[in-house]
Amino acid sequence: MIGVLVSGSGSNLQALLDAGLPVVAVASSHEDVRALDRAEAAGVPARVFPLADPADRSGRDTAMADWLAGHGVTLVVCAGFMQLLGPAFLGRFPDRVLNVHPALLPAFPGAHAVEDALAAGVSVTGASVHLVDEGIDTGEVIRQEIVPVLPGDTAETLHRRIQVVEHRLLPAVVRELIAA
Ligand code: GRF
Repeated sequence: MIGVLVSGSGSNLQALLDAGLPVVAVASSHEDVRALDRAEAAGVPARVFPLADPADRSGRDTAMADWLAGHGVTLVVCAGFMQLLGPAFLGRFPDRVLNVHPALLPAFPGAHAVEDALAAGVSVTGASVHLVDEGIDTGEVIRQEIVPVLPGDTAETLHRRIQVVEHRLLPAVVRELIAA
């Protein structure tokens, strides 16, 4: 049973739903994001867990982990979730929290991976699915796929092509993990 963490548009959540994977709960860091509409449209329970007090990350993490576990979640997928998770969350799902990142990690971690790859002038970048630890995109890489940088690419055009890959890669890895 999969729980998905989101913060924004939720196109990767949609890819998991469209793949028919057992998404049973969606937790968002923010209200009024498109990902919540997607969860509602799919009939999946969703709830917002704002980080109201950054000093109390463990309180937010515990509440979110409790809620997901209460829905039977055994695998957590961060799909555009833009906040760090601490031990109060990760300790509840050991080696069972994944993230999808728009670069070939360990290159270009962080929130501006596509812009950073363009600024570095690389000829290829890509998408990575990796385990989440307490660092910023530092967990073990499970699978990656290359995406070429094309002449004239902007962050927007490049990110769009990376997301096409993400939407295939992420459901494939999740399907394998839940079958294992
Ligand atoms: C994805 O490109 C993902 O790699 C990055 O944030 C983006 C989220 O997009 N972490 P979406 O919310 O799934 O549409």
